[in-house]
Amino acid sequence: MNLAAIAKPWVGALATYQPGKPIEEVARELGLGDPERIVKLASNENPLGPSPRALEAMRTAASRMHIYPDGDSYYLREALARRFGVSRDEVFLGHGSNEILALLGHVFLEPGVSAVMSEHAFVVYKLVTALYQGTIIETPARELGHDLDAMRAAIRPDTRVVFIANPNNPTGTMIPADALHRFIDALPEHVAAVLDEAYVELLPPRLQPDVLRYVRERRNVFVLRTFSKAHGLAGLRIGYAIAPPEGIALLNRVRQPFNVNAMAQAAALAALEDDAHIARTRALVEEGLDQVSQALAGMGIDYVPSSANFLLVKVGNGRGYFDALLRRGVIVRPVDGYGLPEYIRVSIGTRAENERFLDALALVREEWSSS
Ligand SMILES: Cc1ncc(COP(=O)(O)O)c(C=O)c1O
Repeated sequence: MNLAAIAKPWVGALATYQPGKPIEEVARELGLGDPERIVKLASNENPLGPSPRALEAMRTAASRMHIYPDGDSYYLREALARRFGVSRDEVFLGHGSNEILALLGHVFLEPGVSAVMSEHAFVVYKLVTALYQGTIIETPARELGHDLDAMRAAIRPDTRVVFIANPNNPTGTMIPADALHRFIDALPEHVAAVLDEAYVELLPPRLQPDVLRYVRERRNVFVLRTFSKAHGLAGLRIGYAIAPPEGIALLNRVRQPFNVNAMAQAAALAALEDDAHIARTRALVEEGLDQVSQALAGMGIDYVPSSANFLLVKVGNGRGYFDALLRRGVIVRPVDGYGLPEYIRVSIGTRAENERFLDALALVREEWSSS
């Protein structure tokens, strides 16, 4: 059998996404026994879990899982449209915002076409561009964040997509609203801007940029959001795009008929109404960021101030710290694949989880400095 020999040659060259290690796998590998003893701060999940309202909706939905989902996600699109003051035909649901990124690649990217993205930006932009054999144009970061002037200058006649993560993962950096505005204003007609706002609900509303105005103005813009982070539904895989109707119609042409499952639709609909859960989550993240950043500062360890629910921490040897923390049952994320070998990324957890991380970090540091 030689399936690789008969596959399309470029597929063999594609990189596979490396997800954060699941708790069970780490427990097995390290013989740590009880998974309860392991703290996972590797995938920017919500430490409070799903909204109680979403849990109730999932319980109710469970007995109807023999029925195909609503292929149009009618009620959820309706609810999102109402909440954001857009129309239903400006809303698209996906199997996580990752699926929507891939579908955007399906719509816009092919050999001979390029996509612009920033150094240290969310890795899926590169994976998707490679998947559709587009050319990756990566612009240098400015203070680890997106340099929109450089990104604008990098746009070529063959560019079709510019990917912008705001806040960005893994750096936690945020683009100033006026810079984003200037960028969108100067966006050429032949380019679509993908504004990936996976973490935006974690910010207080006054700090959330008003990007939906670009949709109302019918710019070439796709705003991407997800139920994975602030809403605590990462396991269900559900995200959405808000864009002018013409853009949504293109996405609908390339998606599978039932790309969003019924459980996810029910939970998301309930979660969307649970403002109290978002407020609790926001408060927990804010306190956790204070707790971890103050402790790091006290230890003399540099970190990047974050607008999201994780921190990029400068430890020196990121991969080494990742391994050493893992052996102590704390899972963080190495980010050498992002061109950041000196850093680890740690998600904000509960107060107790953050303490576990900080204690383990102090121990590893002591060990390394004495060896
Ligand atoms: C910037 C960014 N965009 C998109 C996603 C994908 O989220 P989803 O779970 O909706 O696929 C993530 C997940 O980590 C992310 O960090």
